Amino acid sequence: MNLNITQGDLSQVNLAFYIANVSQLDKTIFSPEEFEFVSNKIESSPDNWICINQYSRLIYIYRYKKHVPGNHLFLESSRKAGANLGEALNKEKQENVAINAFGHDLLLAEGLLLGNYKYLKYLSDKEKNTPSLQNASFSNCSKEELQEVINLGESVMFSRDLVNTPVIDLNPTDLANEAKRSSKANGFKVEVFDKKKIESLKMAGLLAVNAGSIDPPAFIIMEHKPENAKNEKPIILVGKGVVYDTGGLSLKPSNFMDTMKSDMGGAAAVIGTMQAIASNNINKHVIGLVPSTDNRPGGNAVTPDDVITYANGKSVEIKNTDAEGRLILADALIYAQKYDPELVIDLATLTGAAAYAIGKYGIVAMGDAEDNAWNKLKTSGKNSYERIVEFPFWEEYDELLKSDIADLKNLGPRDAGAITAGKFLSNFTDYPYIHLDIAGPAFVDANDGYIKKGGTGVGVRLLYDFLKNY
Ligand code: BES
Ligand code: ZN
Ligand code: ZN
Repeated sequence: MNLNITQGDLSQVNLAFYIANVSQLDKTIFSPEEFEFVSNKIESSPDNWICINQYSRLIYIYRYKKHVPGNHLFLESSRKAGANLGEALNKEKQENVAINAFGHDLLLAEGLLLGNYKYLKYLSDKEKNTPSLQNASFSNCSKEELQEVINLGESVMFSRDLVNTPVIDLNPTDLANEAKRSSKANGFKVEVFDKKKIESLKMAGLLAVNAGSIDPPAFIIMEHKPENAKNEKPIILVGKGVVYDTGGLSLKPSNFMDTMKSDMGGAAAVIGTMQAIASNNINKHVIGLVPSTDNRPGGNAVTPDDVITYANGKSVEIKNTDAEGRLILADALIYAQKYDPELVIDLATLTGAAAYAIGKYGIVAMGDAEDNAWNKLKTSGKNSYERIVEFPFWEEYDELLKSDIADLKNLGPRDAGAITAGKFLSNFTDYPYIHLDIAGPAFVDANDGYIKKGGTGVGVRLLYDFLKNY
């Protein structure tokens, strides 16, 4: 773990307080001059960390201005305060801090933990690049609550690590092994179908996208089924696991290709969510499905104009090999039918159109699930600040995917590109369904609070909140 978080341990040197007003502070830890300074400063500059340097220790104080209980903007600014505190301590090369956030401790812990994340795998001098902050203790929450936050944070960072790892070290088999490793450590089940099994199941999309590859595909099945599961039928999560998307023969121009190691962001979110719900013993029966391959040109690569036929008999004319995500997700959505699920949610870095529409600030969502599921998911979006925005799913869009020679084609017009991608997928569902396009927020080019440059692990905190409260 990049940061050791404990409950109640006050042996740390530095202190931090997250308060609504000055009367919450223990005057005796300050000199009268210091207290005067703090009182004035937090009045004139609220919603900021201010720092008192007592030479033997630093004391940080943050006074927030507005607190509407449960308001998602307050939740988020508290997480950000946690991340900003970590940043300030790291800047000062500090190793520890004891925090009292007067009941908002879990939010600060979440922000502090995720904000201290750094992807170190390939750096030769790991020590020099490791954030200095190593220990943080929180006094105003229970051990159990804190452990839940730690487990969730670890799962998000696991997901980030997967996204940040380039394809040279993360082919479909590696991805499956990571899922297995996590399953052993956290107590969920994993089964991996190899190429032979995938062929026998006639997973036509996965095989077509994989045809130009040297590495074989994998189909990963994860299951968390606790004895006290509240749901009779499982909830299924499906994640796009394209470990690299060159576009295939419809090759991407090079300035669009880099960062495409992140095209397994949906898979990383599903695997991370399985870890989060298993490590925290969430009482829901959940299945995770991940079809995985790279997408690259090769001697045998699938071509535009090829037609493939799925296990359910549906034929698809491939007009663009770069619209590969929907091809492999279709196999997983067909496979999901055999579980008679209560609800299926897929996560995929599916279209540039989704990112163009709303940027990195949220998740583009669509589907035909009933209002209850939608409302719960939207609420979880606010709780986690992994916000979702529902796009229309009108039947007129279906027209745009008609093929001259097959049941369907994999490419629509440029307009409404995120929606036609979702529409394509819904052709393979026979259950309540929600599609989440995470192309915008899955991989970002700048640090922002507790979200760090690179893979973000988006989806894990959203789905964890959703499954816990469902
Ligand atoms: N993986 C990409 C989508 C993507 C683009 C994710 C940018 C993250 C950032 C996907 O496979 C793709 O190439 N989509 C095409 C679809 C088009 C050919 C219909 C796209 O969005 O351009
Ligand atoms: Zn593509
Ligand atoms: Zn892709």
